[in-house]
Amino acid sequence: MTHTKQQQIQWVLASDIDNTLTGDSQALLRLGRQLAELRAQGRLALFLTTGRTLQETLTGFERENIPQADAIITQVGTEIYLPPFSAGMQPLQEWADRLHRQYSRQQAVSFLSNIDGAVLQADRYNTSLKASFYLDKAPNPARAAELVQQRVAAAGDSYQVVWSSGKHLDILPAAAGKANAVRFLIHHLQLAPQQVIAAGDSGNDRSMLVGLDYGIVVGNAQPELKEMQADPPAQLYFAQQPFAAGVAEGLRQLGVL
Ligand code: GLC
Ligand code: MG
Repeated sequence: MTHTKQQQIQWVLASDIDNTLTGDSQALLRLGRQLAELRAQGRLALFLTTGRTLQETLTGFERENIPQADAIITQVGTEIYLPPFSAGMQPLQEWADRLHRQYSRQQAVSFLSNIDGAVLQADRYNTSLKASFYLDKAPNPARAAELVQQRVAAAGDSYQVVWSSGKHLDILPAAAGKANAVRFLIHHLQLAPQQVIAAGDSGNDRSMLVGLDYGIVVGNAQPELKEMQADPPAQLYFAQQPFAAGVAEGLRQLGVL
């Protein structure tokens, strides 16, 4: 983005990758072309906001038609990368420093002690700013997640629990997460969009879907997001269509496409 282009940015689209953009490769190819055009006109900035690692995101550009982006927010909002992207690059230091101030990985992991059936995720998803577990082998996953939430709440306000898809549990710094990373980045890049639009399918997208200006929940979303339909927040659009077609449907609703 050049400086002049930054002045005209009308929209920031902060989109999750897995099961939001991915899932229907033809629909993603179509959406990707439309987003590329809006980016080329300087009207839209695309932030990818994902639970993936940087490497998995870069591979996605090559192999999965993931559209090129103006920023990549990985590891559920604990790392931020700005272009030019390359394998092995370092995340934005300012964001990392801010999060490290309130996070001890050892304490984060301790919230899961004696939780029956909790399994640590692969090393690449466990970083100095993110402790991630599988809870689907617990006798009652939802109950176990609740217990962890209670422990974390009792320990003060430095940590947050992100519970997704009845399976994934992350302990993050309270200041992290997808929505906080998007807000930080808009400020950092001195963007002044008229609207910040989130798109997502699961629990780790909730903060940005409810906390930014507008949210698109794709048709294939997990129950933890669909349940909001009972008492829908005003800024949320529940798409009929799944995956990238659902994102496009929401963007049409907003007049972006
Ligand atoms: C992604 C991440 C995983 C995390 C999950 C939910 O799948 O790779 O570590 O637990 O998102 O946030
Ligand atoms: Mg997803």
